[in-house]
Amino acid sequence: MHSVQKISENIYWVGGNDRRLERFENMFPIPNGVCYNSFLILDEKTALMDTVDTAISRLFIENITHVLNGRDLDYLVINHMEPDHCANIEELVKRYPNIKIVGNKKTFQFIGQFYDFDYSMNMLEVKDGETLCLGRHNLKFMTVPMVHWPEVMFTYEETEKILFSADAFGTFGALAGNIFCDETDYDHYYLEEARRYYSNIVGKYGQQVQSALKKLKDYEVNMICSLHGPIWRENLPYILNKYDKWSKYEPEKNGVVLVYASMYGNIENTINVIANKLAQKGVKDMRVYDISKTHPSYIISDIWKYSHVIFGSVTYNMGLYYGMESLLNEIKALNMQNRKVGLVGSGTWSPQSVKIMQEIIGSMKNMDIVGEPFEVTSSMKQEQEEVVDKFVEDFFKSIN
Ligand code: FEO
Repeated sequence: MHSVQKISENIYWVGGNDRRLERFENMFPIPNGVCYNSFLILDEKTALMDTVDTAISRLFIENITHVLNGRDLDYLVINHMEPDHCANIEELVKRYPNIKIVGNKKTFQFIGQFYDFDYSMNMLEVKDGETLCLGRHNLKFMTVPMVHWPEVMFTYEETEKILFSADAFGTFGALAGNIFCDETDYDHYYLEEARRYYSNIVGKYGQQVQSALKKLKDYEVNMICSLHGPIWRENLPYILNKYDKWSKYEPEKNGVVLVYASMYGNIENTINVIANKLAQKGVKDMRVYDISKTHPSYIISDIWKYSHVIFGSVTYNMGLYYGMESLLNEIKALNMQNRKVGLVGSGTWSPQSVKIMQEIIGSMKNMDIVGEPFEVTSSMKQEQEEVVDKFVEDFFKSIN
């Protein structure tokens, strides 16, 4: 049985959900599942905007067949060639041999890399700014490289002013029947996951996202259709402003994320002492994470959100506990910047963790180390309280 919805008079949502997948990209936990959007435009010509992941191919084909109702599929626009969206290209060419696949030069390079079938008669290569008329609808293609892969395009439908935005403005989380953001409790159900999706998947490419946002300034947009998550048709500045902030690596609010890597609870205790002292000074909205317990994607998402972060790590094999090392290297790889950072370490002999964390944080852009980093020898003793208090005082001052 098909599962389609109209998004406007002649445009249909033909995507679907996956609530079984454990990890997106086999890396990121998705407790609320994920959706793969695809949109079908019926006009003098028919055009499908992207395909879906292989997990929901059967439903997808059923959806398309139902909407086409015997018509041929004239165009398949590929805005993004990552396999969560392009798993059905060969199947569509087999079913609709006259179909033209619309993509840019890079799109076709990637189709050739992922697929092994002859699509030479089905290619329609477009360049940035070119248009394709379907009848009443007119598609304009904008290349937006590295949002999130080099071949990515936005497609803007000029008549209804709908932006098909590839991964941009999307989120983890399956759709629960409601396909429009304004029909959901977005702030409570999707926002945290939208931030986790952005920061971990696209976060590295802030500069390119900024370029894409600048391109969009020339267009009036009534609706944003991302490949993941619900559709934006109201209050578009909400998500555009979030993307502007996220891609400039600007924190959304004052607050502290405290992350520790602790073997026997000693650096954990130190972090708890610091959090309690900050709370007593009036700091609100702090998050404390055990790096061994919480998937780093959630921690990274909160580092994206908040202005301050404190890392506490035990020394391990004369280096860093590898969960912490991996987190720090990942936020560096994602180009995280513009945060105030506190560092504390521990070790029983020859502690190294503060030194190593300082080196990693020091190699990142606009990451200011505040408060005097300190090491705890084995466990924190009462006589160290003065050092902790000084650290907390200095850290607190940088928040306000
Ligand atoms: Fe949803 Fe970059 O793929």
